[in-house]
Amino acid sequence: MSTPSHDLVAFGATSFVGKILCRYLLEEFGAQGDMKWAAAGRSKAKLEELRSSLGAKAGTLPLVVADAADEASLRKLCASTRVVVSTVGPYALHGQPLVKACAESGTDYCDLSGEVQWIRRMLQHYEATARKSGARIVHCCGFDSIPSDMGVHFLQRQAMKRLGVPCTRVKMRVKVMRGGFSGGTVASLMNVVKEVAADPALRKELADPYSLCPAGSAPNVRQPDVRSAEFDVDFGAWIAPFVMSAINTRIVQRTNALSEQAYGADFTYDEAMLMGRGVKGMFAATAMAAGLAAFMLAGSIGPARAALERFVLPKPGEGPSPAAQRKGFFDLRFVGTTADGRQIRTKVTGDRDPGYSSTGKMLGQAAACLALDVDKAATPGGFWTPATIFGDRLIRRLTAHSGVTFELVPDLPN
Ligand SMILES: NC(=O)c1ccc[n+]([C@@H]2O[C@H](COP(=O)([O-])OP(=O)(O)OC[C@H]3O[C@@H](n4cnc5c(N)ncnc54)[C@H](OP(=O)(O)O)[C@@H]3O)[C@@H](O)[C@H]2O)c1
Repeated sequence: MSTPSHDLVAFGATSFVGKILCRYLLEEFGAQGDMKWAAAGRSKAKLEELRSSLGAKAGTLPLVVADAADEASLRKLCASTRVVVSTVGPYALHGQPLVKACAESGTDYCDLSGEVQWIRRMLQHYEATARKSGARIVHCCGFDSIPSDMGVHFLQRQAMKRLGVPCTRVKMRVKVMRGGFSGGTVASLMNVVKEVAADPALRKELADPYSLCPAGSAPNVRQPDVRSAEFDVDFGAWIAPFVMSAINTRIVQRTNALSEQAYGADFTYDEAMLMGRGVKGMFAATAMAAGLAAFMLAGSIGPARAALERFVLPKPGEGPSPAAQRKGFFDLRFVGTTADGRQIRTKVTGDRDPGYSSTGKMLGQAAACLALDVDKAATPGGFWTPATIFGDRLIRRLTAHSGVTFELVPDLPN
């Protein structure tokens, strides 16, 4: 087999988030420096337009044309690189042939998928193949689920260092999150809603907190799940459901399962949004919970969903403006409690719009970590989570190059 010409190929380079990723890769790594990478997509003309908008010369940033529906072109793409990072979504509609090609060819792969039902299908179909070929597959390398998965990893590291034991109960609370949505994210969310409407059994699968854990590894532990407005005593504030907990909690549970329950056999984890104190906080939490429920209900009714897609939500290729992305940020608070009741508090922050500028930087560093830091001989093929495959190496990259911080916070009200 010939040596791949690239360390990394960014597939979906012309997507909304793919453009952000490519700009970041170019700024951070150059085109043909320590990490030799190429931009890929289905349209040569769009790729050329992207390359010139990035100010890169034809000789320095190679382009690869491949179609997500054409297996032969994906096999060629895999042969040209050691790692593929994909932003071609919704993954449930376009992602399977590429995961198959990577698993079969031993090519490492990471993406931005937050679609639990699709990730579960990929595990079922290709985990054994990836183990055999040596392909390391890492889903969820964006805002879902890096801050949650790496945030819990960081908290548990601090707990072991300071308290000598892991925290068996961890809560993540979104203190602040300012950012927008792109058409691709909305399309992915709407596709999940459509799949659930067409297959009611999927609802049960999505409700299982251990749905991404290896078969037979689910402990008999009931996981907390914030579904309505509640008062959280640990934070002294009202909380409301957080939409991304549906994927993040599954990834964190998979991390615990893959690491032989390093967080504890009875580990529990949940996520919610902090909505403030007193009566104002209670009203805000109730309104947020009701608004989210109404949005999900509208999404599940065909005509209402069509109206939302047509008149309200961004279209594929659209998303928050560069100025809005620069103004965005996030601040996530974690509290961990040990089995004997001791607590530790940490936070994870990001300096840009969580789903786009920050996601582009997190995905870029995760892909670089896969290409440059994770030795093939030491880390076998299979489906990993960000925390189990990257660990502290990714925390170092994120804090140094992505505007993401991981910190201990004093044990005071957040
Ligand atoms: N986890 C997170 O935090 C996070 C954050 C943001 C986005 N996302 C996810 O990332 C994905 C991309 O989002 P986005 O807003 O960037 O989407 P988008 O702008 O709608 O882009 C979708 C991309 O898919 C490409 N594509 C579609 N069919 C293809 C095919 N047959 N072959 C090759 N390429 C094909 C399109 O190519 P063309 O350019 O040629 O049309 C386009 O580049 C979505 O699944 C979204 O949910 C996740």
